[in-house]
Amino acid sequence: MLNQCAQFVNIKVIIQKSLPMKPQIQILKTLIFAGLFALNSTTVAHTKPKDKDRWNEKYDKETYLFGEKPIPFLVDNIHILRKGKVLDVAMGEGRNGVYLATQGFDVTGLDISEKGLEKAHALAAKNNVTIKTKVVDLEKAELETNSYDLILCTYYMDRGIYKKFYDALKPGGIVLVETYNIDYLKYRKFNAKWTLETNELLEIFKGMRVLRYQDYDDAREAYSSIIAQKP
Ligand SMILES: C[S@@+](CC[C@H](N)C(=O)[O-])C[C@H]1O[C@@H](n2cnc3c(N)ncnc32)[C@H](O)[C@@H]1O
Repeated sequence: MLNQCAQFVNIKVIIQKSLPMKPQIQILKTLIFAGLFALNSTTVAHTKPKDKDRWNEKYDKETYLFGEKPIPFLVDNIHILRKGKVLDVAMGEGRNGVYLATQGFDVTGLDISEKGLEKAHALAAKNNVTIKTKVVDLEKAELETNSYDLILCTYYMDRGIYKKFYDALKPGGIVLVETYNIDYLKYRKFNAKWTLETNELLEIFKGMRVLRYQDYDDAREAYSSIIAQKP
């Protein structure tokens, strides 16, 4: 680091001698930018930040990345959901879980990001409700069996955790899942492995009674949503 600084001072001296004031500042700015860019690229290439760090960083601002309002599919179908114990899987900043709490549901949210859950609690306080939260890595987590009246999971694509929802629901319990499907790739650059195949949600929850299903596509985004009930 000390060497880098010394080199920088040398460059600065040479420029001062050979150039008039304005281009000199411009070149200095370019050098600083190039240096920072080089350092940053090295970090990204060698140490991919973990999900926790990545999401904590994304959420570390005052505004809500995904907004404060719940998804329309949840609001439109609130009347068919079973009131009681809810698990909001990958809750994020809490837009859906907090809405459910305002409707009288007893909500617990799971997420890997402390920052997201902190914002979820702030959103709950703003709406005069309380929620419970737990920081967990869902790639390793086990869910309590026969425990929930409703499991909600939006925009967290993990086939492994989806398959655990059935056992975690009480008999008659309901699952609501929504996330991007393969058609989304027509509109956005996105990793295909994070999208659902056509009818995939119907396949994953085929042991359950499908109460609602949609493939949404408005030529800007495309996603699939399901509400299904355990027998
Ligand atoms: C696109 S956000 C969706 C948040 C929320 N469900 C919503 O719709 O607003 C994805 C969420 O998954 C969480 N997440 C990513 N990897 C995770 C993991 N391994 N375990 C738990 N949560 C994770 C992130 O922290 C983030 O909050």
